[in-house]
Amino acid sequence: MRRTVIAGNWKMNMTPAQTKSFITELAPMVAGQDKCDIVLCVPYVDIATAVEAAKGTNIHIGAENVHFAESGAYTGEISAKMLCEIGTEYVIVGHSERRQYFGETDATVNLRTKAALAAGLKVILCLGEVKDERLAGITNEVVSMQTKLDLAGISAEELKNVIIAYEPVWAIGTGLTATPEQADETCGVIRETVAALYGRDAAEEITIQYGGSMNDANAAELLAQPNIDGGLIGGASLVAKKFTAIVDAAQ
Ligand code: 13P
Repeated sequence: MRRTVIAGNWKMNMTPAQTKSFITELAPMVAGQDKCDIVLCVPYVDIATAVEAAKGTNIHIGAENVHFAESGAYTGEISAKMLCEIGTEYVIVGHSERRQYFGETDATVNLRTKAALAAGLKVILCLGEVKDERLAGITNEVVSMQTKLDLAGISAEELKNVIIAYEPVWAIGTGLTATPEQADETCGVIRETVAALYGRDAAEEITIQYGGSMNDANAAELLAQPNIDGGLIGGASLVAKKFTAIVDAAQ
């Protein structure tokens, strides 16, 4: 059976001091929850503090991006090796905000994914359609194409360390949520694409999250869908009570 993974994406929020107090507050609230994996993906400068604060708890720490080169002249970038050395376990790759504001393409998302996997990180690979694509009725084609391009050259063995996060761009930070049926249908399309690429067993094993205005009020219904195996949560992951309620909804 595939694992349910509830992950927070803090985006550009929280200082190291706020990180320490947040995790200190959250840890006892989610202690003993073993039906899902709990991950917080935090800004680079917060990672060391987060890893330290999460020691001995069931909270895992991730980064929000990673560069594809091992080292070199890439001012401002962070390598997978650097992340591993400070105790990072997960990394988000291909978030729509990276694609929209920082020129990420499926080609660079693919390179970053490969570099992260090679270093031993678990990847949360984000993809999803923009509003115009949904309105044009090409959502299935878009997510299927992204899945193929982003996973190009990644082996079946490596795929075991990949989680796919389906995040319809029009639902991110907007308060608009895909209906459970819409989200389930599109996650199903992604799963079928994985089946076509890697076979049925791999498709049944891969964790596919939904992300986009998931919160304490709508999580249970979304997580009850057969093709939704967790959530990637933005705004609601910044409030310990709300994030805990989503973890509880996954039980
Ligand atoms: P919100 O939950 O704030 O809509 O953000 C979703 C997201 O982008 C998670 O990666």
